[in-house]
Amino acid sequence: MGFTSEIHDYQLLSKIATNDKHGENSPYFDGWKAYDRDPFHPTKNPDGVIQMGLAENQLSFDLIEDWIMENPKASICTPEGVNQFKHIANFQDYHGLPEFTKGVANFMSKVRGGRVKFDPDRILMSGGATGANELIMFCLADPGDAFLVPSPYYPAFVRDLCWRTGIQIIPVHCDSSNNFKITREALEEAYQKAQEDNINVKGLIITNPSNPLGTTLDRETLKSAVSFINEKNIHLVCDEIYAATVFNSPGYVSVSEILQDIESINLDLIHVIYSLSKDMGLPGFRVGIVYSYNEEVVHCGRKMSSFGLVSSQTQHLLGAMLNDDEFVDGFLKESSRRLGKRHSVFTKGLEKEGISCLPSNAGLFVWMNLRKLLKEQTFEGEMMLWRDIINEVKLNVSPGSSFDCKEPGWFRVCFANMDDETVEVALRRIRAFVGKETTPSSSPKKPVKLKRWNSNLRLSLSSSRRFDETVLSPHNMMSPHSPLVQAT
Ligand SMILES: Cc1ncc(COP(=O)(O)O)c(C=O)c1O
Repeated sequence: MGFTSEIHDYQLLSKIATNDKHGENSPYFDGWKAYDRDPFHPTKNPDGVIQMGLAENQLSFDLIEDWIMENPKASICTPEGVNQFKHIANFQDYHGLPEFTKGVANFMSKVRGGRVKFDPDRILMSGGATGANELIMFCLADPGDAFLVPSPYYPAFVRDLCWRTGIQIIPVHCDSSNNFKITREALEEAYQKAQEDNINVKGLIITNPSNPLGTTLDRETLKSAVSFINEKNIHLVCDEIYAATVFNSPGYVSVSEILQDIESINLDLIHVIYSLSKDMGLPGFRVGIVYSYNEEVVHCGRKMSSFGLVSSQTQHLLGAMLNDDEFVDGFLKESSRRLGKRHSVFTKGLEKEGISCLPSNAGLFVWMNLRKLLKEQTFEGEMMLWRDIINEVKLNVSPGSSFDCKEPGWFRVCFANMDDETVEVALRRIRAFVGKETTPSSSPKKPVKLKRWNSNLRLSLSSSRRFDETVLSPHNMMSPHSPLVQAT
């Protein structure tokens, strides 16, 4: 008998394996499950759930595909490139292929308008920005230490920054009264509170452009953040994964530009996180970058990058692509134009229904304000509305509470992971729902009637864009999966 109870007391797996900091138990992911159970397809499942919770950039694949066709030597699996197969298959140096680090540095500089240069020797590889954010935490903080994170923030930061490292997030609460600006007062308040609670604050992490707001930080805010961390002698990590998604003025300002403007800043405190998942729409390639101005971090991070190197095949292909100046210039311009166009169509469609969004100039999403549709101005009210949107309107959008937003009624809606026709279907559904919700309560409410997809769809598509299942809904052939496995 004693034997049985000993077995029960024994913890078979580690604390990391059994805690729930991976975040996948959050109700937020019920929306993903609803999508997985019933994914929209224009002809096979026109009443299914449309995935608007996925921050993917699928608007410019054709540009990359054209480049690949024109540059067969860049792939090791073509007759033109196979002579490099042996060399590339063997390559495993954690410094990376020289042409890859040079190409990434070139791309990062072009994304920032050529106003800053990056040193290829400071580029560290990791498995996407997910791995890069964790890697930088391992270099800068110990279990129990904290990072300040302005809210609302990317939900998977809890997993990426905290789960395996044991560090904690302290939210810096921002609100709609000033368009969620990160103020010096809010930073001081969060910092002081942590001090009172005896928490060791090791740094501040900002996301520029912001996920979920779709806004860029202005020069003044960046300078104020840099002075703040410099005065406190703590680190500044800038997640710039959406840098090339800026489609409207004001233009993008990277923290790297600010460093050139401020004197007496301790560069050892500054670190940039980057990835090709959003700007090039290549989340499957798992190309993440840590760019640190701190020599020691570069050395230690390089060793740690052994746990998440980018495959040499991917490095080889991207090395050729990202050093092609003509391609990169054209891609950045066209991708930004397409994102701007999609943003405009979507936000104008919402405006027609009286729905406003936070004014934004970047990102793959909008921050939609549905406060007036809440039955009560609480997070319970937000969850009720969110359930209606998923179950009735059949749109998987993400509630503000999952981004640690302190005001109920905000929702993040992604607009770049689908084609034009699917956007129209989503807007039609929103129209029907808003019409029903704003009908005076004396008149009986009718359920939202989902208009069926036009069966002549193929004829209605423009001739330049062929009917293509993967463009319409790339994940609809997937079996149910853990949503956090995908970038969110
Ligand atoms: C702010 C932010 N950082 C990091 C990531 C992770 O990106 P990756 O796919 O490169 O791991 C995301 C993905 O959505 C993100 O929005």
